[in-house]
Amino acid sequence: MDKEKTRQAIDKVFADMAGAMAAGMALVGTRTGLFRAMAGKGPLSVDQVVGATRLQHRYVEEWLKGMAAAGYLEYSPARQTYQLAEEMAYFVASDGSDHFVGGMWEMVPPLLRVAPRVAEAFADGGGVPFQDFGPDCVNALDLINRGQYEQRFTDYWLKALPEVVERLLAGGRVLDYGCGSGRVAIAIKKAFPSAEVHGYDVDAQSMARAREAAKAAAVRVAFASEKPRGEFDLVTMCDCIHDLAAPLQTLREVHALLKPGGTLFIVEPKAADRLEDNRNPVAAMFYGFSLFHCMTQSLARGGPGLGTCMGPAKTGQLVREAGFGDLRPLEIKSMTNLFYAAKKT
Ligand SMILES: C[S@@+](CC[C@H](N)C(=O)[O-])C[C@H]1O[C@@H](n2cnc3c(N)ncnc32)[C@H](O)[C@@H]1O
Repeated sequence: MDKEKTRQAIDKVFADMAGAMAAGMALVGTRTGLFRAMAGKGPLSVDQVVGATRLQHRYVEEWLKGMAAAGYLEYSPARQTYQLAEEMAYFVASDGSDHFVGGMWEMVPPLLRVAPRVAEAFADGGGVPFQDFGPDCVNALDLINRGQYEQRFTDYWLKALPEVVERLLAGGRVLDYGCGSGRVAIAIKKAFPSAEVHGYDVDAQSMARAREAAKAAAVRVAFASEKPRGEFDLVTMCDCIHDLAAPLQTLREVHALLKPGGTLFIVEPKAADRLEDNRNPVAAMFYGFSLFHCMTQSLARGGPGLGTCMGPAKTGQLVREAGFGDLRPLEIKSMTNLFYAAKKT
């Protein structure tokens, strides 16, 4: 054995375990409000953080040490203080914004909870169905995407399709297929009040959340778990196609739901077609999301388990086979998403 490679191997194991534990500690940091309490405050002693949060001293002390060791907080040995830098606060203490990352940490407990069942599925086949992940998974999915959907979907992403925007300003019918907690449909209704907006999802928990969210936003969106009817000018499918149990059949149904000239707008996780181009932290995280969620819940329903890293080539193949002329990649900047549009001719 090569001595240097052996050292690198064990370093890698500890770094990944440290990452897993840091994700758990960070989850505590957002849930307890510790990050928010430290944001913009400069260097703080343990007592000052305890005073600002009214949390238990010993827990706070250990959390501060752990987060400092993990590189989330700056620690001054001379002054015995901890500081949440502005740049880190931008991501971890920005709940509700399009750059908040706390939703990813919320995904860890529901995904790792099913790890034993996923391990069994390696031998037995099948998988863990979507509804078995429970409400905390639906909440985490919502938290991961909500900020972007509310702040970027209509103001930035949809602007890549000016003809669609023009159509919706005059009215039109929109469907968000696999709408989850409903944020996309609600954002569209807010931006285009004359449009008739529908949201469809097979998951009852998500539908209940979507209806509540529409009520809170005081907008009229028709959320339903029954298959949509009629024809639409725009169908959106966000973070959904790779999860489907019958992707080709579903895309054919979506094609049939569009008016001639209507548009399918797709958001999918940012992953390349080839594994050699996916050796980066975002894709590595997506493979985990895939194994413990996206792939397994599709396989559980007898689906193909396309997985989170389905990639552009497979997306294009499915969309073309479903009857669309072609799939156009859209030039929209994002660290985690890819965007496409397809027209029904
Ligand atoms: C990863 S979640 C994304 C939810 C939402 N679009 C978002 O971006 O937050 C995928 C969603 O697709 C839904 N879904 C899966 N198969 C479906 C189907 N055949 N018809 C409708 N919805 C489906 C799931 O219930 C789930 O809410």
